[in-house]
Amino acid sequence: VSPGLPDGFGRVATDLRVSVTDRCNLRCSYCMPAEGLDWLPKPEMLTDDELVRVISVFVRLGVTSIRFTGGEPLLRRSLVDVVRRVGELTPRPRMAMTSNAIGLDRLAAPLAEAGLDRINISLDTSSPERFAELTRRDRFHDVERGIKAAQDAGLAPVKINAVAMRDPSGRDDPAQLLQWCLDRGLDLRFIEQMPLDAQHAWDRESMMTSDELRELLEARFTLTPLPDESRGSAPARLFLVDGGPATVGVIASVSEPFCAACDRVRLTADGQVRNCLFARTEDDLRAPLREGASDEELAALIQRTMMRKARGHGIGEPTFRQPDRPMSSIGG
Ligand code: GTP
Ligand code: 5AD
Ligand code: SF4
Repeated sequence: VSPGLPDGFGRVATDLRVSVTDRCNLRCSYCMPAEGLDWLPKPEMLTDDELVRVISVFVRLGVTSIRFTGGEPLLRRSLVDVVRRVGELTPRPRMAMTSNAIGLDRLAAPLAEAGLDRINISLDTSSPERFAELTRRDRFHDVERGIKAAQDAGLAPVKINAVAMRDPSGRDDPAQLLQWCLDRGLDLRFIEQMPLDAQHAWDRESMMTSDELRELLEARFTLTPLPDESRGSAPARLFLVDGGPATVGVIASVSEPFCAACDRVRLTADGQVRNCLFARTEDDLRAPLREGASDEELAALIQRTMMRKARGHGIGEPTFRQPDRPMSSIGG
Protein backbone atom coordinates (compact mmCIF):
# COMPACT_ATOMS: atom_id res chain seq x y z
CA VAL A 1 0.00 0.00 0.00
CA SER A 2 1.26 3.48 -0.90
CA PRO A 3 1.56 5.90 2.03
CA GLY A 4 -1.49 8.03 1.11
CA LEU A 5 -2.65 10.58 -1.41
CA PRO A 6 0.03 13.11 -2.33
CA ASP A 7 -0.87 16.60 -3.55
CA GLY A 8 1.17 19.12 -5.52
CA PHE A 9 2.59 20.84 -2.41
CA GLY A 10 4.17 17.86 -0.68
CA ARG A 11 1.26 17.10 1.62
CA VAL A 12 -0.18 13.61 1.85
CA ALA A 13 -3.85 12.95 2.63
CA THR A 14 -4.53 9.98 4.89
CA ASP A 15 -7.83 11.18 6.40
CA LEU A 16 -11.03 10.77 4.38
CA ARG A 17 -14.10 12.68 5.57
CA VAL A 18 -17.29 11.19 4.24
CA SER A 19 -20.58 13.06 4.27
CA VAL A 20 -23.21 10.30 4.48
CA THR A 21 -26.19 12.65 4.16
CA ASP A 22 -26.70 16.38 3.61
CA ARG A 23 -29.80 16.45 5.85
CA CYS A 24 -29.85 17.78 9.36
CA ASN A 25 -32.40 17.79 12.18
CA LEU A 26 -31.17 21.09 13.63
CA ARG A 27 -31.27 24.52 11.99
CA CYS A 28 -28.28 26.34 13.49
CA SER A 29 -28.74 29.94 12.44
CA TYR A 30 -25.06 30.36 11.46
CA CYS A 31 -25.37 27.36 9.16
CA MET A 32 -28.72 27.29 7.35
CA PRO A 33 -32.09 29.05 7.11
CA ALA A 34 -35.07 28.06 9.29
CA GLU A 35 -36.79 26.30 6.38
CA GLY A 36 -33.79 24.04 5.73
CA LEU A 37 -32.19 23.52 2.32
CA ASP A 38 -33.02 21.65 -0.88
CA TRP A 39 -31.82 18.24 0.25
CA LEU A 40 -30.27 15.85 -2.26
CA PRO A 41 -32.83 13.58 -3.91
CA LYS A 42 -32.29 9.93 -2.96
CA PRO A 43 -31.26 8.75 -6.46
CA GLU A 44 -28.40 11.27 -6.44
CA MET A 45 -26.96 9.86 -3.24
CA LEU A 46 -24.50 7.01 -3.24
CA THR A 47 -26.08 3.75 -2.13
CA ASP A 48 -24.45 1.81 0.70
CA ASP A 49 -22.74 -0.50 -1.79
CA GLU A 50 -21.41 2.46 -3.78
CA LEU A 51 -20.27 4.25 -0.65
CA VAL A 52 -18.37 1.25 0.71
CA ARG A 53 -16.83 0.61 -2.70
CA VAL A 54 -15.53 4.20 -3.02
CA ILE A 55 -14.21 4.14 0.55
CA SER A 56 -12.41 0.88 -0.21
CA VAL A 57 -10.65 2.57 -3.14
CA PHE A 58 -9.47 5.37 -0.82
CA VAL A 59 -8.26 2.78 1.69
CA ARG A 60 -6.36 1.00 -1.04
CA LEU A 61 -4.76 4.35 -1.92
CA GLY A 62 -3.42 4.63 1.63
CA VAL A 63 -6.15 6.46 3.56
CA THR A 64 -5.90 5.23 7.16
CA SER A 65 -8.71 7.10 8.89
CA ILE A 66 -12.31 7.70 7.96
CA ARG A 67 -14.55 10.31 9.54
CA PHE A 68 -18.31 10.05 8.96
CA THR A 69 -19.98 13.46 8.82
CA GLY A 70 -23.17 14.99 7.45
CA GLY A 71 -25.39 17.00 7.55
CA GLU A 72 -26.17 14.86 10.53
CA PRO A 73 -24.72 11.37 9.89
CA LEU A 74 -27.12 9.61 12.30
CA LEU A 75 -29.95 10.48 9.90
CA ARG A 76 -28.65 7.92 7.43
CA ARG A 77 -30.68 4.90 8.45
CA SER A 78 -28.06 2.39 7.34
CA LEU A 79 -25.19 4.09 9.18
CA VAL A 80 -24.43 1.26 11.59
CA ASP A 81 -24.24 -1.14 8.70
CA VAL A 82 -21.97 1.16 6.68
CA VAL A 83 -19.64 1.51 9.68
CA ARG A 84 -19.51 -2.25 10.10
CA ARG A 85 -18.69 -2.79 6.42
CA VAL A 86 -15.96 -0.11 6.38
CA GLY A 87 -14.49 -1.73 9.51
CA GLU A 88 -14.15 -4.98 7.56
CA LEU A 89 -11.84 -3.42 4.94
CA THR A 90 -8.16 -4.37 4.95
CA PRO A 91 -6.17 -2.67 6.29
CA ARG A 92 -8.90 -1.62 8.71
CA PRO A 93 -9.12 2.19 8.84
CA ARG A 94 -9.64 4.05 12.11
CA MET A 95 -13.22 5.29 12.20
CA ALA A 96 -14.59 8.44 13.80
CA MET A 97 -17.77 10.47 13.48
CA THR A 98 -18.82 14.10 13.83
CA SER A 99 -22.45 14.36 15.01
CA ASN A 100 -24.88 16.59 16.87
CA ALA A 101 -25.71 13.58 19.10
CA ILE A 102 -29.47 13.66 18.56
CA GLY A 103 -30.49 10.01 18.46
CA LEU A 104 -27.13 8.89 19.79
CA ASP A 105 -28.75 7.64 23.00
CA ARG A 106 -29.97 4.66 20.97
CA LEU A 107 -27.13 4.45 18.45
CA ALA A 108 -23.92 4.90 20.47
CA ALA A 109 -23.72 1.28 21.61
CA PRO A 110 -24.51 -0.29 18.20
CA LEU A 111 -22.01 2.07 16.51
CA ALA A 112 -19.27 1.19 18.98
CA GLU A 113 -20.08 -2.47 18.51
CA ALA A 114 -19.88 -2.02 14.72
CA GLY A 115 -16.34 -0.66 15.12
CA LEU A 116 -16.62 3.12 15.50
CA ASP A 117 -13.59 4.26 17.51
CA ARG A 118 -14.32 7.89 18.40
CA ILE A 119 -16.93 10.60 18.21
CA ASN A 120 -16.84 14.40 18.13
CA ILE A 121 -20.07 16.06 19.17
CA SER A 122 -21.14 19.51 18.02
CA LEU A 123 -22.53 21.59 20.87
CA ASP A 124 -22.20 25.36 20.98
CA THR A 125 -23.72 26.18 24.38
CA SER A 126 -24.51 24.61 27.75
CA SER A 127 -27.69 26.67 28.14
CA PRO A 128 -30.85 24.81 27.02
CA GLU A 129 -32.60 28.13 26.22
CA ARG A 130 -29.72 29.44 24.16
CA PHE A 131 -29.48 26.04 22.41
CA ALA A 132 -33.14 26.23 21.39
CA GLU A 133 -32.64 29.76 20.07
CA LEU A 134 -29.48 28.98 18.16
CA THR A 135 -30.54 25.65 16.65
CA ARG A 136 -34.24 26.57 16.35
CA ARG A 137 -35.03 23.21 17.98
CA ASP A 138 -35.65 22.52 21.67
CA ARG A 139 -33.43 19.45 21.91
CA PHE A 140 -30.67 20.21 24.39
CA HIS A 141 -31.64 17.30 26.61
CA ASP A 142 -31.52 14.85 23.67
CA VAL A 143 -27.94 15.97 23.10
CA GLU A 144 -27.11 15.51 26.78
CA ARG A 145 -28.47 11.96 26.67
CA GLY A 146 -26.52 11.28 23.48
CA ILE A 147 -23.27 12.46 25.04
CA LYS A 148 -23.82 10.26 28.08
CA ALA A 149 -24.52 7.25 25.86
CA ALA A 150 -21.33 7.87 23.87
CA GLN A 151 -19.28 7.93 27.08
CA ASP A 152 -21.00 4.79 28.35
CA ALA A 153 -20.34 3.03 25.04
CA GLY A 154 -16.61 3.71 25.40
CA LEU A 155 -16.31 6.07 22.43
CA ALA A 156 -13.54 7.80 24.34
CA PRO A 157 -12.39 10.48 24.52
CA VAL A 158 -15.64 12.24 23.57
CA LYS A 159 -14.77 15.62 22.07
CA ILE A 160 -17.12 18.58 21.95
CA ASN A 161 -16.85 21.04 19.04
CA ALA A 162 -18.25 24.51 19.68
CA VAL A 163 -18.36 27.28 17.11
CA ALA A 164 -17.10 30.42 18.88
CA MET A 165 -19.84 33.04 18.94
CA ARG A 166 -20.99 36.01 20.91
CA ASP A 167 -24.33 35.55 22.66
CA PRO A 168 -26.39 38.63 21.83
CA SER A 169 -28.40 38.09 25.04
CA GLY A 170 -25.22 37.92 27.14
CA ARG A 171 -26.58 34.90 29.05
CA ASP A 172 -23.96 32.50 27.81
CA ASP A 173 -20.21 32.64 27.51
CA PRO A 174 -17.48 30.23 26.40
CA ALA A 175 -16.11 29.86 29.96
CA GLN A 176 -19.49 28.50 31.03
CA LEU A 177 -19.39 25.82 28.34
CA LEU A 178 -15.81 24.94 29.32
CA GLN A 179 -16.84 24.46 32.95
CA TRP A 180 -19.80 22.30 31.83
CA CYS A 181 -17.42 20.09 29.80
CA LEU A 182 -14.83 19.87 32.59
CA ASP A 183 -17.57 18.71 34.97
CA ARG A 184 -18.42 15.86 32.59
CA GLY A 185 -14.93 14.79 31.51
CA LEU A 186 -15.43 16.02 27.94
CA ASP A 187 -12.63 17.45 25.74
CA LEU A 188 -13.79 20.82 24.45
CA ARG A 189 -12.56 22.58 21.31
CA PHE A 190 -13.71 25.95 20.04
CA ILE A 191 -13.83 26.60 16.29
CA GLU A 192 -13.58 29.93 14.50
CA GLN A 193 -16.57 30.38 12.27
CA MET A 194 -15.71 29.95 8.59
CA PRO A 195 -17.35 31.37 5.44
CA LEU A 196 -19.31 28.19 4.71
CA ASP A 197 -22.87 29.12 5.67
CA ALA A 198 -25.74 28.53 3.25
CA GLN A 199 -26.84 32.17 3.37
CA HIS A 200 -23.37 33.61 2.68
CA ALA A 201 -23.80 35.97 5.62
CA TRP A 202 -20.39 35.32 7.23
CA ASP A 203 -18.15 38.31 7.67
CA ARG A 204 -14.78 38.56 9.32
CA GLU A 205 -15.73 41.48 11.53
CA SER A 206 -18.51 39.61 13.31
CA MET A 207 -16.51 36.38 13.66
CA MET A 208 -15.19 35.76 17.17
CA THR A 209 -11.42 35.38 16.78
CA SER A 210 -9.33 32.93 18.75
CA ASP A 211 -7.69 35.89 20.56
CA GLU A 212 -11.04 37.20 21.73
CA LEU A 213 -12.06 33.71 22.79
CA ARG A 214 -8.87 33.25 24.83
CA GLU A 215 -9.49 36.50 26.61
CA LEU A 216 -13.00 35.38 27.63
CA LEU A 217 -11.72 32.00 28.84
CA GLU A 218 -8.79 33.57 30.69
CA ALA A 219 -11.18 35.65 32.76
CA ARG A 220 -12.05 32.40 34.56
CA PHE A 221 -9.27 29.91 33.81
CA THR A 222 -5.49 29.88 33.46
CA LEU A 223 -4.55 28.61 30.01
CA THR A 224 -1.07 27.24 29.29
CA PRO A 225 -0.33 26.53 25.61
CA LEU A 226 0.99 23.05 24.85
CA PRO A 227 3.93 22.95 22.42
CA ASP A 228 2.80 23.18 18.82
CA GLU A 229 4.93 20.16 17.82
CA SER A 230 2.54 17.86 19.68
CA ARG A 231 -0.22 18.90 17.33
CA GLY A 232 0.79 17.29 14.03
CA SER A 233 -1.93 17.70 11.44
CA ALA A 234 -4.66 18.18 14.06
CA PRO A 235 -6.50 21.46 13.53
CA ALA A 236 -6.73 22.30 17.24
CA ARG A 237 -4.12 24.17 19.26
CA LEU A 238 -4.31 22.84 22.84
CA PHE A 239 -4.07 24.65 26.18
CA LEU A 240 -3.83 23.14 29.66
CA VAL A 241 -6.70 24.37 31.82
CA ASP A 242 -5.64 25.54 35.30
CA GLY A 243 -2.41 23.54 35.06
CA GLY A 244 -4.03 20.41 33.58
CA PRO A 245 -4.55 17.56 33.06
CA ALA A 246 -7.70 18.85 31.31
CA THR A 247 -7.18 20.75 28.05
CA VAL A 248 -9.17 23.07 25.85
CA GLY A 249 -8.57 23.34 22.11
CA VAL A 250 -8.87 26.22 19.70
CA ILE A 251 -9.35 25.62 15.99
CA ALA A 252 -8.32 28.95 14.46
CA SER A 253 -9.02 28.02 10.84
CA VAL A 254 -9.38 31.65 9.76
CA SER A 255 -6.92 33.68 11.84
CA GLU A 256 -4.15 31.02 11.88
CA PRO A 257 -4.72 28.66 8.94
CA PHE A 258 -3.29 25.17 9.31
CA CYS A 259 -3.50 24.30 5.61
CA ALA A 260 0.25 23.62 5.36
CA ALA A 261 -0.23 20.52 7.53
CA CYS A 262 -3.49 19.40 5.91
CA ASP A 263 -3.93 15.64 5.55
CA ARG A 264 -7.60 15.63 4.48
CA VAL A 265 -9.74 14.74 1.50
CA ARG A 266 -13.52 14.68 1.33
CA LEU A 267 -16.32 12.69 -0.26
CA THR A 268 -19.84 14.16 -0.48
CA ALA A 269 -23.05 12.15 -0.12
CA ASP A 270 -23.60 12.42 -3.88
CA GLY A 271 -20.20 10.98 -4.69
CA GLN A 272 -18.08 14.07 -5.39
CA VAL A 273 -14.44 14.21 -4.27
CA ARG A 274 -13.30 17.54 -2.83
CA ASN A 275 -9.65 18.21 -2.12
CA CYS A 276 -10.48 21.01 0.34
CA LEU A 277 -13.43 22.41 2.33
CA PHE A 278 -12.95 25.55 0.24
CA ALA A 279 -12.37 23.87 -3.12
CA ARG A 280 -14.09 25.65 -6.00
CA THR A 281 -14.43 22.43 -7.97
CA GLU A 282 -15.29 18.82 -7.21
CA ASP A 283 -14.76 15.66 -9.22
CA ASP A 284 -17.62 13.30 -9.84
CA LEU A 285 -17.10 9.65 -8.94
CA ARG A 286 -20.78 8.70 -9.08
CA ALA A 287 -21.21 8.74 -12.86
CA PRO A 288 -18.09 6.66 -13.60
CA LEU A 289 -19.06 4.34 -10.75
CA ARG A 290 -22.52 3.80 -12.23
CA GLU A 291 -21.04 3.38 -15.69
CA GLY A 292 -18.90 0.48 -14.51
CA ALA A 293 -15.50 2.11 -13.87
CA SER A 294 -12.84 -0.14 -12.38
CA ASP A 295 -11.18 0.51 -9.01
CA GLU A 296 -8.05 1.62 -10.90
CA GLU A 297 -10.06 4.18 -12.88
CA LEU A 298 -11.70 5.55 -9.73
CA ALA A 299 -8.29 5.68 -8.03
CA ALA A 300 -6.85 7.67 -10.93
CA LEU A 301 -9.70 10.21 -10.70
CA ILE A 302 -9.08 10.64 -6.97
CA GLN A 303 -5.33 11.06 -7.45
CA ARG A 304 -5.92 13.69 -10.14
CA THR A 305 -8.22 15.66 -7.81
CA MET A 306 -5.55 15.66 -5.12
CA MET A 307 -2.88 16.99 -7.47
CA ARG A 308 -5.08 20.06 -7.99
CA LYS A 309 -5.40 20.87 -4.28
CA ALA A 310 -4.63 24.52 -3.54
CA ARG A 311 -1.92 25.58 -1.10
CA GLY A 312 -4.43 27.16 1.28
CA HIS A 313 -8.00 28.34 1.70
CA GLY A 314 -7.27 31.94 0.70
CA ILE A 315 -9.82 33.49 3.08
CA GLY A 316 -9.10 37.21 3.20
CA GLU A 317 -7.37 37.30 -0.16
CA PRO A 318 -9.02 39.45 -2.85
CA THR A 319 -9.69 36.44 -5.07
CA PHE A 320 -11.44 34.42 -2.32
CA ARG A 321 -14.93 33.24 -3.14
CA GLN A 322 -17.02 31.14 -0.81
CA PRO A 323 -17.71 27.65 -2.22
CA ASP A 324 -21.21 27.09 -3.63
CA ARG A 325 -21.93 24.23 -1.28
CA PRO A 326 -22.38 25.02 2.40
CA MET A 327 -20.60 23.15 5.23
CA SER A 328 -23.74 21.07 5.82
CA SER A 329 -23.45 19.40 2.43
CA ILE A 330 -19.65 19.25 2.23
CA GLY A 331 -19.30 17.66 5.66
CA GLY A 332 -17.70 19.12 8.82
P1 GTP B 1 -9.86 14.93 15.50
O1 GTP B 1 -9.24 13.77 14.84
O2 GTP B 1 -10.76 14.54 16.61
O3 GTP B 1 -8.90 16.04 15.87
O4 GTP B 1 -10.85 15.49 14.45
P2 GTP B 1 -11.05 16.78 13.62
O5 GTP B 1 -10.78 17.98 14.41
O6 GTP B 1 -10.38 16.60 12.34
O7 GTP B 1 -12.59 16.63 13.32
P3 GTP B 1 -13.88 17.44 13.45
O8 GTP B 1 -14.79 16.92 12.42
O9 GTP B 1 -14.37 17.39 14.84
O10 GTP B 1 -13.46 18.90 13.05
C1 GTP B 1 -13.61 19.95 13.90
C2 GTP B 1 -13.76 21.21 13.12
O11 GTP B 1 -12.53 21.57 12.54
C3 GTP B 1 -14.69 21.12 11.96
O12 GTP B 1 -16.01 21.30 12.37
C4 GTP B 1 -14.25 22.25 11.12
O13 GTP B 1 -14.81 23.47 11.59
C5 GTP B 1 -12.78 22.25 11.36
N1 GTP B 1 -12.14 21.53 10.28
C6 GTP B 1 -12.15 20.18 10.11
N2 GTP B 1 -11.47 19.88 9.01
C7 GTP B 1 -11.04 21.02 8.47
C8 GTP B 1 -10.29 21.33 7.34
O14 GTP B 1 -9.87 20.48 6.58
N3 GTP B 1 -10.05 22.63 7.11
C9 GTP B 1 -10.46 23.61 7.93
N4 GTP B 1 -10.15 24.86 7.62
N5 GTP B 1 -11.18 23.36 9.01
C10 GTP B 1 -11.46 22.08 9.29
N1 5AD C 1 -17.62 27.46 10.51
C1 5AD C 1 -17.06 26.62 11.42
N2 5AD C 1 -17.65 25.51 11.88
C2 5AD C 1 -18.88 25.28 11.43
N3 5AD C 1 -19.73 24.28 11.71
C3 5AD C 1 -20.83 24.45 10.96
N4 5AD C 1 -20.74 25.56 10.21
C4 5AD C 1 -19.54 26.09 10.49
C5 5AD C 1 -18.83 27.23 10.04
N5 5AD C 1 -19.37 28.07 9.15
C6 5AD C 1 -19.43 23.23 12.67
C7 5AD C 1 -20.63 22.62 13.33
C8 5AD C 1 -20.06 21.33 13.79
C9 5AD C 1 -19.03 20.98 12.75
C10 5AD C 1 -19.46 19.88 11.85
O1 5AD C 1 -18.83 22.15 12.00
O2 5AD C 1 -21.10 23.38 14.38
O3 5AD C 1 -19.38 21.47 15.03
FE1 SF4 D 1 -7.08 21.55 4.34
FE2 SF4 D 1 -8.50 23.17 2.82
FE3 SF4 D 1 -9.07 22.83 5.40
FE4 SF4 D 1 -6.91 24.19 4.66
S1 SF4 D 1 -9.01 24.74 4.32
S2 SF4 D 1 -7.00 22.69 6.26
S3 SF4 D 1 -6.30 23.01 2.84
S4 SF4 D 1 -9.20 21.29 3.76
